[in-house]
Amino acid sequence: MSPALVSSQAAAPAKPSGPRPTSILHRTPWIPPVAVAAQGSYIELESGQKLLDAVGGAAVSCLGSGHPAVNKALKDQVDRVSYVYNMQLSNQPAEELAALLIESSNGAFELCGFASGGSEAMEGVTKLARQYFFETGQLQRTNFIARKLSFHGNTVANLSLAYHPARRAPYAAILDSEHFHHVSPAYAKRFQRPEESEADYVERLRAELEAKFIELGPDTVIGFVAETVVGASTGVVPAPKGYFKAMKSVCDKYGALLILDEVMSGMGRMGTLHAWESFGDGVAPDIQAVAKGLGGGYASIGAVLMSKRIATGLRDASGLWKHGHTYQGNPLACAAALAVQKVIISENLLENCRTQGAYLEKLLKARLQGPNSASAPFTFDIRGGGGFWGVEFDFDCPECATLDFRGEQFAMLVQAHALANGLIVMGMTGGANLQGTKGDVIILAPAYNITPQEVEKIVQMFGDSVDAVLEAHRV
Ligand SMILES: Cc1ncc(COP(=O)(O)O)c(C=O)c1O
Repeated sequence: MSPALVSSQAAAPAKPSGPRPTSILHRTPWIPPVAVAAQGSYIELESGQKLLDAVGGAAVSCLGSGHPAVNKALKDQVDRVSYVYNMQLSNQPAEELAALLIESSNGAFELCGFASGGSEAMEGVTKLARQYFFETGQLQRTNFIARKLSFHGNTVANLSLAYHPARRAPYAAILDSEHFHHVSPAYAKRFQRPEESEADYVERLRAELEAKFIELGPDTVIGFVAETVVGASTGVVPAPKGYFKAMKSVCDKYGALLILDEVMSGMGRMGTLHAWESFGDGVAPDIQAVAKGLGGGYASIGAVLMSKRIATGLRDASGLWKHGHTYQGNPLACAAALAVQKVIISENLLENCRTQGAYLEKLLKARLQGPNSASAPFTFDIRGGGGFWGVEFDFDCPECATLDFRGEQFAMLVQAHALANGLIVMGMTGGANLQGTKGDVIILAPAYNITPQEVEKIVQMFGDSVDAVLEAHRV
């Protein structure tokens, strides 16, 4: 389930759910319909309704459902070894997957550790970064710097690391503000000043990071942590050109680590295996988390990728990762992820992801921002890359006086309307200002093997939903 829905629960419209009883404490204010079958980008509900999934759940299902090669790999692995405990035994798919992740990184990474999802991977990242300095004799490094309007997962430490005011509100009193600090987001469309060039904006952000290092004591900083492309808060926001190079220069200057969270944007989502290859100035991080596209939804898995610097530091010290979970390196999860990654390579899906992504962008712009489009005055931005797109709406314009959403959030209304009419998209709210009180984005993240016909259908159904919600709220 999307973290977007967490931030938007209060204002999300109740979906008519019928009398279906449930013993699950769901994350949504409505009872979600039950899926009973899925193939490719389509999911069938108990009611018989068929849904087209335009966002891969939460940017997870990079191959859609039911890919025969992945299904076979999973079935074969169940018959071979279903579980071993990683403190006792390793297993073949885990070893092979780790080798593939390292070999495919062109030297960026040297070692890998596994987790069971994005939040676990980010916890592992945080602990690994501290372990590195603990074992290399820099015990004074105890501070992390991350960004406002970020999302790094839902555990207590991840909520401390990230910063989204609405999501932290219930837990703010128990979050760690001593070791986790925040600088501005890199979100040009909202925060670049009119008088600034892109280079000026990047320099302002670089200077802010450096000032934060100096304020904390430069040799106390463990690392700077960022989503390469921000996903589940501001809604698909790539950084300005030169940003990651600039941020890395500050980390390098003071001996701190550059840490990238590619849980959502990585493993091919941006049309390159790692998002930093295309959307991060080609700057490889010291540590990186990946998850969603790694297992593509066939299994719960995440991974922590470690550069040579980290690998060498730890090898020369304890020689092990002082962190772990019972299901880390699970054979079934690793077999599924290995098969997913092999399919992405053998079917050349990163190219399809880029091609269909460009087609999606073109159709979205024509439909939502074209001269005769009813939504054009409210469509603030269409942005992204590869198979990851955000459509941001804004209701500050003069035409907005003709609309009344009656206290509800536009993105959530569109999400609900689309779902009721057979399309899954992800609504995201509260990412357009630092207070987390404004912002309506819809995220689209179709499978990498999406067809042009499916892209056309997504845009048509999505455009219809946007138009219908606008029409229903005209005064
Ligand atoms: C950037 C980022 N980090 C971490 C997470 C947490 O991942 P998970 O939901 O698998 O725990 C997410 C989830 O959306 C994410 O987008």
